[in-house]
Amino acid sequence: MHTRSDEFESATASLAADGWCVIQGLMSPAETLALTNECLAMHDAQQLKPARVGADRDQTLLRGDSTHWFESDALSAPQQAFADRIDTLRIELSRSLMLGLVDSESHYAVYQPGAGYARHLDQLRNNDARVVSAVFYLNDAWQEAQGGALRLHLADHSHRDIYPHAGTLLLFLSAQFEHEVLPATRDRMSIACWMRQRAIGATC
Ligand code: OGA
Ligand code: MN
Repeated sequence: MHTRSDEFESATASLAADGWCVIQGLMSPAETLALTNECLAMHDAQQLKPARVGADRDQTLLRGDSTHWFESDALSAPQQAFADRIDTLRIELSRSLMLGLVDSESHYAVYQPGAGYARHLDQLRNNDARVVSAVFYLNDAWQEAQGGALRLHLADHSHRDIYPHAGTLLLFLSAQFEHEVLPATRDRMSIACWMRQRAIGATC
């Protein structure tokens, strides 16, 4: 079990120094597989909905994923295990870096072959609630030749490509890093999560 209070010490230090980091081992392989299987089953049952919703038709051009938001009062066992670990990480990051992270929101996302998400920032206009973006990947035996990298754009105009291997968790500061999802040749599954502060001037 994960009981050491310094478990996330190096992640915290990297986030403080660079604004982003990659963590392995947030979930056990069995827990990761349970999330993968649930996401697959929900996708097969068409329970994920195109992220481009409502009146904002431009979203169709921006992003091609389908999502299912986790409901905090109706979490499945695999989702509860994920939420518990994300809470542990959130509380540790918030304490160490004084980020005031009060809660989080998460959704499954499936990008079908050819779908991506154009370069964007995760902080929504007029709402600064999202402080830390966390993306947890669910794809067994991903090969880089299959594409699907999360391309993180750094302040010096270089970029880093993070591939969506099962068990990889990417963290970055939501307000600082533009990023994009490059298209892949196979279905690409993830959990996108945002650790939030109490928003100033938010309407919801
Ligand atoms: C997002 C996002 C990245 C990914 O949902 O905002 O950037 O790798 N997702 O799924
Ligand atoms: Mn994003």
